[in-house]
Amino acid sequence: NFTPNAFVEEIVAEMQEKIGNDKVVLGLSGGVDSTVAAVLLHKAIGKNLYCIFVNNGLLRKNEFDSVLEQYKGMGLNVKGVDASARFLDELAGISDPETKRKTIGRVFIEVFDSESHLLEGVKFLAQGTIYPDVIESVSVKGPSATIKSHHNVGGLPDFMKLKIVEPLRMLFKDEVRRVGATLGISPALLGRHPFPGPGLSIRILGDITPEKVRILQEVDYIFIEGLKTHGLYDKVWQAGAILLPVNSVGVMGDERTYEKVVALRAVESTDGMTADWVHLPYEFLMLISNEIINKVKGVNRVVYDISSKPPATIEWE
Ligand code: XMP
Repeated sequence: NFTPNAFVEEIVAEMQEKIGNDKVVLGLSGGVDSTVAAVLLHKAIGKNLYCIFVNNGLLRKNEFDSVLEQYKGMGLNVKGVDASARFLDELAGISDPETKRKTIGRVFIEVFDSESHLLEGVKFLAQGTIYPDVIESVSVKGPSATIKSHHNVGGLPDFMKLKIVEPLRMLFKDEVRRVGATLGISPALLGRHPFPGPGLSIRILGDITPEKVRILQEVDYIFIEGLKTHGLYDKVWQAGAILLPVNSVGVMGDERTYEKVVALRAVESTDGMTADWVHLPYEFLMLISNEIINKVKGVNRVVYDISSKPPATIEWE
């Protein structure tokens, strides 16, 4: 019988007791968990919480700026660090999915480490770890797990020697959302679909280039905005677009085209462990497909993924 108000009161007192007047650094991802953790800690220790939000260049279209604005609007002490060029540079030529993940994890740690060095006297590292992350400690999912799997690469970065605070570590996802609502975080932010840490990199099959990222951001934007305007967004657990490493033939006027194929994916799930593809209305798929092909230069074909998990995974990589 979970009561969000009582939880907030208790955990705020506990955090104040534990942290005192020390400084805390926290990496924001734009997701629900890190956001709720930040707002909770901000309530407990105010300006002693320093948030860092890194743009890895693989976020959704406009996401970095709009989420950064929302964070500032919530009164968080947040620094946006645009490291897109560096991430895309390091990813150039890499096609293997696990190498993409490792590269992103490593660069994230380097960026976060040098940013946290700029803050003086930080004693704690806060993380948005929730209960399923705690039990699923062997999992490779999520920024905190990504960090853990890099423990042995060239010694521990300094920020990882900090003391850890994890205010949400006893909570399930729905409880985190309820706490977020109690704290006044907007329903739009709390209802956001899950989005993988490596972002669009694992939805671009094959190697990653700035042009491919741009194409996929446009396609994804049309799909996600379409879901919202047609009242479908909240009926779907997660959705996104995938840029396939094949070209297909098409016609445009009386010209033959030879351009990229994108796949759309929308799934229903409760925890991501299993998932069913969503029977989106044909009418909707038709509108979205037309809009994508008409508006996004370089794409001439759209397909819809009708595979469930298992055996298919939600992501294609
Ligand atoms: P799969 O593709 O394994 O995805 O069915 C299940 C859920 O996990 C997310 N996912 C990731 N999240 N880092 C993350 O933070 C990752 O490397 C990663 N891979 C998959 C995926 O988006 C889905 O919600």
